[in-house]
Amino acid sequence: MRPTVKLFLLLGDPVEGSLSPAMHNAAFRALGLNCVYVALDVPARFLSDAISGIRAMDVAGFNVTIPHKISVMKFLDKLDQSASLPGAVNTVKNRRGKLIGFNTDGEGALRALEAKIGSIEGREVMLFGAGGAARAIAFYLAKAGAKLTIANRTIARAEALASMINQKLGVEIRTVPLDRVKLAATLNNADVLINATSVGMYPNVDQTIIPSSMMHRGLVVNDIVYKPLQTRLLREAKRAGAKTIDGLGMLVHQGALAFEIWTGRRPPIKVMEEAARRELGGKGR
Ligand code: ATR
Repeated sequence: MRPTVKLFLLLGDPVEGSLSPAMHNAAFRALGLNCVYVALDVPARFLSDAISGIRAMDVAGFNVTIPHKISVMKFLDKLDQSASLPGAVNTVKNRRGKLIGFNTDGEGALRALEAKIGSIEGREVMLFGAGGAARAIAFYLAKAGAKLTIANRTIARAEALASMINQKLGVEIRTVPLDRVKLAATLNNADVLINATSVGMYPNVDQTIIPSSMMHRGLVVNDIVYKPLQTRLLREAKRAGAKTIDGLGMLVHQGALAFEIWTGRRPPIKVMEEAARRELGGKGR
């Protein structure tokens, strides 16, 4: 690290367990960049002060995670369309003193999915969730031409998301309550199922929204949860003979897109994936 080191941060609460420092520092090393990435716990009440500090110290860029993805927007100078469409930010670039907000979650999820199964256009996709992560993913899937159905425990949130996408993109999105009987018919016709809820995430590793009996062989099941990598949902999907995609791909691709925004360099995806996997300790592989 030389004195002119460029600083990149993750602001969240809590940031413990984040794989981003390992991923980005490995990428900086691989490309010989004089940059460093540090994760900091920033409680919501200090977010405004933290952003002032970032401006004062000319920090080069930062990621935000729970609980700041929405609240950070009011402190920024400009939003890229990737952030203004879903109404959430996960990546900020300091461009000559101006803080520009981006969101790489949706495109990251789409890239991870399309890397495994090809174009999503015209495919029937069932998305579980309507929270921050689901919002970014839903916009990108709709933009990419997927035929989307959103299911959420709180149906009003699914409906609000569907009408926001309809208003902004002019695309029709169906909604369905997270009720096994009501889900069954839609799932029968689905090509892809994406879980963008926190169900099944450590420590609740025995939870799944649906069992293997509701999945079929032709289905592709993608869980964005990566702790553990092999969630109960993915284990149930395998039992049904469905193809499974774990959450590491989305994590790596959203990070790689942020890296590219910050450095303008092509991200070393394999290096980032290996670093994230190493950090996970091979758990759940
Ligand atoms: P994130 O930004 O990570 O998406 P979030 O905005 O809190 O976090 O959203 C969490 C998502 O997981 C929501 O879709 C939530 O459903 P509700 O909108 O009904 O709250 C979903 N979720 C969390 N726990 C759940 C559970 N036990 N069963 C079903 N859905 C759950």
